[in-house]
Amino acid sequence: MMGPPLQLDGQEWLRDPYPIYHRLRQEDPVHWSPQLGHWLLTRYRDVVLVLRDRRFSAANRPPQRRWGRPTTMVNADPPEHARLRRVAAAPFNHAAVESLRPLIQEAVDSLLDGLGGEADLVEGLARPLPLLVIGRIMGLSERSRAALMGELMAFSPGAGRRRASLMAQGLPATPDDSYWRSVLAEHRAAPGDDLVCQLIAAHGQGLLDEEELVDTLVLLYVAGMETTIGLIANSVLALLRHPDQWALLCRQPQLARQAVQECLRYDPPVHAVSRRALAEVEVWGRTIRRGDKLLCLLAAANRDPEAFPEPDRLDITRAEGDHLAFGTGVHSCLGALLARAEGEVAIATLARRFPDLRLAGEPRIESNLIVRRVTSLPVSL
Ligand code: HEM
Repeated sequence: MMGPPLQLDGQEWLRDPYPIYHRLRQEDPVHWSPQLGHWLLTRYRDVVLVLRDRRFSAANRPPQRRWGRPTTMVNADPPEHARLRRVAAAPFNHAAVESLRPLIQEAVDSLLDGLGGEADLVEGLARPLPLLVIGRIMGLSERSRAALMGELMAFSPGAGRRRASLMAQGLPATPDDSYWRSVLAEHRAAPGDDLVCQLIAAHGQGLLDEEELVDTLVLLYVAGMETTIGLIANSVLALLRHPDQWALLCRQPQLARQAVQECLRYDPPVHAVSRRALAEVEVWGRTIRRGDKLLCLLAAANRDPEAFPEPDRLDITRAEGDHLAFGTGVHSCLGALLARAEGEVAIATLARRFPDLRLAGEPRIESNLIVRRVTSLPVSL
């Protein structure tokens, strides 16, 4: 049982949650937190068990502002889940993602062309890249994309000014439902073969209703944006803090694929996913009752020594084990291949063009129990 009470949102945790994850895993791997009203799971095998077991539901989670909405795949259980996922899946499969690589490379090259001396890699690369890519997949017009850029800038310096200027041009400053409805109207007027049109077609065939249509667009946007920014920024930070690994990548940029996987294991942007028990289930000797809520700590499972020897070591040549940064089971991330491709191109290009890349100030990290990511990364190129 645990010693002094855990401060899961204290300064210590904010700075570095991994020692706390280790302590939980060693002392009480299926831990009831009265503070959070959830069981906390930190062992790799328990997290995998829960995420792959239908007795644990992803449904009826309270809708969260930046993540799930009530009628999307992320909050649905089988068989509903399969219907909502299938209609959106095509642009995220292997062939579709591979066909986007030239676009991703072009976008990374032109973003890096614009940087020099000192720069913030979040503003300069990690933030604009996923927007360009999802904009292409969704077939967003320049005008619609500009409006999303306004939203993305909402938390950055000068955001107020930029938002005011967008609104002065008659562009919506936040992508609320009316924004997505206007995107739908644009695509209905001029059909193409992009994701928005595929979803409109699915709606036409009765595969999803109007509300699900809007919610799926919102989901694909929010689920892919902050997370991919985090993938790129957390990975670059991890590599720069391990100069031997950065030097190795610079010598062998073809390691980018493994390096992204290792960085996703080492410091993933999504730290936890929640589930609710539909039946009484025994996990590691603890009785989870029907209705109980659980947090599967993916980032803790990724540091479980039973799954990954020397888990606190960043090793971009590591081959063993499958990390859980994208979850597992039916809800495993739909955008995983896309996010990985963006990360690979970004870090391989950085390593080729800027081998002397180094930190030029303190990075800023924002964190809650669910998402942990670098939000400002000052570097010298
Ligand atoms: C590094 C970037 C990303 C990370 C770390 C990440 C992580 C995750 C995780 C952990 C889940 C599982 C949720 C659960 O089990 O409750 C998930 C699901 C999902 N992700 Fe991602 N994601 C990333 C990028 C993306 C991108 C780029 C997209 C799409 C544009 C996307 C779309 C989705 C969707 C739609 C789901 C729900 C799948 C389902 O419920 O069937 N993600 N993601």
